Amino acid sequence: PRGLVIAIDGPSGAGKSTIARLLAKRLGYLQIDTGAMYRAAAVLIKRAGLDLADGDAVARFCADLCVRLETDGGVQRVFANGQDVTDQIRTHEVSHLTSRVSALRPVRDALLSAQREMGRQGGVVLEGRDIGTVVFPDADLKFFLSATPEVRGKRRYDELIARGETTTLQETVAAVVQRDEQDSRRDIAPLRRAEDAIDVDSSDMGIDEVVACMEAFVRQKY
Ligand code: C5P
Repeated sequence: PRGLVIAIDGPSGAGKSTIARLLAKRLGYLQIDTGAMYRAAAVLIKRAGLDLADGDAVARFCADLCVRLETDGGVQRVFANGQDVTDQIRTHEVSHLTSRVSALRPVRDALLSAQREMGRQGGVVLEGRDIGTVVFPDADLKFFLSATPEVRGKRRYDELIARGETTTLQETVAAVVQRDEQDSRRDIAPLRRAEDAIDVDSSDMGIDEVVACMEAFVRQKY
């Protein structure tokens, strides 16, 4: 059978990237981390010193924007206008800016078509905020992955510390909650559970357990 289109949406720190990567690997599918694409756009916007309030400048920037994902030895790398920005996208500052950048219509339009194009053939696990609602409303399988704010904040905190950033747990939990609120309240493609999504709460589940649970749903589809 043709490969399925699998959507995983949910708030930040729910474990989407790790789980999407492992699930894709088990199925022999391609993983598409759409958050990484928005982050890459934000890195370029920051470098260009673009004023987000300047609609014309944003539109011009988006007309030339090209974001690509490439998997290299199991590691996903993201390129924005030909530049590899993978190592710059995961900072606190970029997370915050991405949430603002991703609320802009021209940015979403530019990345939406790229995401649809990449997923069109099937055999993909796409993860983000609006995959099941906007990017692939007809996805074969949709998951909404969540966890408590404390658990999600702790995961992000551990990631940031491992990467050498200085922050506190309290600050990270607050930033995660603020970003989810911003992502949920925006007008275009807000973070929302699709009506036909399967809820998975990863607060008390290990990564392998979540992946196995999702894989069981996938196998039912074959
Ligand atoms: O998933 P990740 O934390 O990397 O996403 C970073 C940001 O990108 C989110 O906070 C959100 O603002 C934006 N995003 C989005 N739509 C998606 C994926 C990510 O708006 N499909």
